[in-house]
Amino acid sequence: MPPVEPFLLRSMTMWLLLQSVLLLASCLRSAAAFPKGCYPSEEEGLKTFRCSNARLTEVPKDIPNDTNKLYLDSNRIPFLPRDAFRDLPLLLELDLSHNAIAGVESGAFRGLGEHLHSLDLSSNRLVSVSKDAFSNLKAKVNLSNNPWLCDCRLQELIRTVELAAGSSGGIVCDSSVQEEHVGKAFLQVIADTDFCNMYKKTTDIAMLVTMFGWFAMVISYLVYYVRQNQEDARRHLEYLKSLPSKQRRSEESSTISTVV
Ligand SMILES: *[C@@H]1O[C@H](CO)[C@@H](O)[C@H](O)[C@H]1NC(C)=O
Ligand SMILES: *[C@@H]1O[C@H](CO)[C@@H](O)[C@H](O)[C@H]1NC(C)=O
Repeated sequence: MPPVEPFLLRSMTMWLLLQSVLLLASCLRSAAAFPKGCYPSEEEGLKTFRCSNARLTEVPKDIPNDTNKLYLDSNRIPFLPRDAFRDLPLLLELDLSHNAIAGVESGAFRGLGEHLHSLDLSSNRLVSVSKDAFSNLKAKVNLSNNPWLCDCRLQELIRTVELAAGSSGGIVCDSSVQEEHVGKAFLQVIADTDFCNMYKKTTDIAMLVTMFGWFAMVISYLVYYVRQNQEDARRHLEYLKSLPSKQRRSEESSTISTVV
C-alpha cells in the first residue's frame, strides 16, 4: 500500500504551483491590458483613467470601457482619427490638452455625443478644423492656445460647439484672411467681421464682374454687328442706287438699238 502522505504532499505542491502560475498570468494580463504609462483610479466615485505624460503618439487601445474620465494630456498625439473614442460609452470628461494635435477627422468624437460634458483640446496645433468633427457633441470644449487660422471655417466651428466657460479669450488668430486680425482674440474679431458673409460678398462681386464682362462683350459685339451691317447696307444701297440708272441707260440703249 503506497503511503498517503507523499501523495498529498505532491498534490499540495502541484496545487500551489498551479495557483501561483494562475496568479502570475492574471498579473501579466492586467499589466498588458493597460497601455504603457496609463493607470486607472477612482476619483469621487468616477472611474478615471490617466495617461498623462506617457509619451503616447496615438489614442491607446484597450482603455477600460467603463471609464468616466480620461486624461490623455501632455503626450505627443498628432491626429484624432474617426471613431477614436467609440468604445467609451460612459465617458464624461476627456482631456487632450498639451498634445500635438493638428488634425481632427470628422467622426473622431462619434459615440460621445450625449454623455461627454467636457472636452479639452487646448494647447495643441489646431489651425483649421471642420465643424463636422464636433457635430452631435454636447460637451463644453476648450479650444484655447492653438495656432488658429481665423476664417469662415473657424467661425462656423465656434458657432457649432459650446465653448468652456471663460475659455473663449484663448482662441487667438495666429493667421487670418485679413492681416490685421493676427494676435487678436477671435471672438473680438467676429464682433465686427463676418468671415462667412465676407466670403459670400467676394463671390457675389466676382459673379457680378463676370456677368458684366459677358454683358459688355455681347453689347460690343451687337454694336459692331450693327455698324458693320450699316456699312454693308449703305454700300448695298449705293450699289442699288447706281444700278437702276445703269440699267436704265442700258435699257435705253437697247431700245435705241431695237428702234435702229
Ligand atoms: C464593456 O465590455 C464588456 C465586455 O465586452 C461588456 O460586457 C460590458 O457591457 C461593457 N460595458 C459597457 C459599459 O459598455
Ligand atoms: C482652457 O485651456 C487653457 C489653456 O490650456 C487653460 O488655461 C484654461 O484654464 C482652460 N479653461 C477651461 C475653462 O478649462
